[in-house]
Amino acid sequence: METTAKNLISIEKSKTSKIEQVDFDNLAFGSVFTDHMLVCDYKNGAWEKPKIVPYGPLMLNPSAKIFHYGQSIFEGMKAYKDTAKDVYLFRPLDNHKRFNISAKRMAIPEIPENYFMEGLKALLQLDEKWIPTKEGSSMYIRPFMFATGEGFHASPANEYKFMICLAPSGAYFAGKVKVLIEETYSRSANGGVGFAKAGGNYAGQFYPTQLAIEKGYNQVIWTDDNTHEHIEEAGAMNIFVRINDTLITAPTSDRILDGITRKSIIDIAKAEKIPVEVRKITVKEVVEAAQNGSLKEMFGAGTAAVISPISTFGHRGSDYDLPVLDASYASLLKKKITDIQYNKTEDTFGWRVKI
Ligand code: PLP
Ligand code: COI
Repeated sequence: METTAKNLISIEKSKTSKIEQVDFDNLAFGSVFTDHMLVCDYKNGAWEKPKIVPYGPLMLNPSAKIFHYGQSIFEGMKAYKDTAKDVYLFRPLDNHKRFNISAKRMAIPEIPENYFMEGLKALLQLDEKWIPTKEGSSMYIRPFMFATGEGFHASPANEYKFMICLAPSGAYFAGKVKVLIEETYSRSANGGVGFAKAGGNYAGQFYPTQLAIEKGYNQVIWTDDNTHEHIEEAGAMNIFVRINDTLITAPTSDRILDGITRKSIIDIAKAEKIPVEVRKITVKEVVEAAQNGSLKEMFGAGTAAVISPISTFGHRGSDYDLPVLDASYASLLKKKITDIQYNKTEDTFGWRVKI
């Protein structure tokens, strides 16, 4: 039996609010945080009662295993406010499912669905005024979980924290995205943790991405670790390529995150009668398509970045510019998905969840 939010979660309200200090017209991505956060401890083999408390620093032991062995996972979601000020989530149960898939791979205890969902709803209701309404803005939601248990023994911790923080956010990328096809470094490997949203996956991307930034790119396009012949992801986004009129994305595997935006885009594109192929994409075919003019679009897809068109890709010292199209798949699909997310249209897929 599910416990109701009222019985399940205790709430300690913040005495003051920081909301007046926030410039909601000029929000960056994920850099201001609301007045409250959710915290739930795992001790003695069980999850304790979740608490909503004022947002603030945590006290952790220096020997907490998160610091030494990186047992840490997260999710990325958004809450959207419509013109009637109603609040919606997009496919939140898929995030919960993926969170537990990540947890299992990192030997972290799974979180029950009602803790995740009721925690989210209670926190969003409490900080509802913080959800931005400006076009292109939303409330970025960061559920995360990490090892607080102590010890230098390289084995899973016996204590964990599940938390949720909220960050009213604007766009992830300021302008067009210029990417470099990466053929030296890898973000993931067969049998590894690429399919999990494990914190360390992102730390491992920073150095190769910095090298790409020094060369004038914004992001790296990850290729498979074995041959570097296949395009797999675009930074922290799934990748789509349009050759002639066909939209192509790489199949998910244990190296690739099973993106919720990606699978939604596939369904929307199919409903729009756009030919879609889910198959391996070779670097060679993309370079050839760019050279012969059949490469029409490339874009990244993810919760934070929504759909981010790639303007240029770099490969082995050459830059290839993508054409500027009047009616791109990226703009059509972005409109279709955000119209569903912001309750501007009927949701025939059943993805929207009202808070
Ligand atoms: N790939 C990676 C590595 C990511 O971190 C993300 C972001 O969550 C995505 C893809 C896109 O996934 P989603 O659409 O579920 O946000
Ligand atoms: C998201 O798209 O929500 C992500 O988790 C990407 C993140 C690394 C900003």
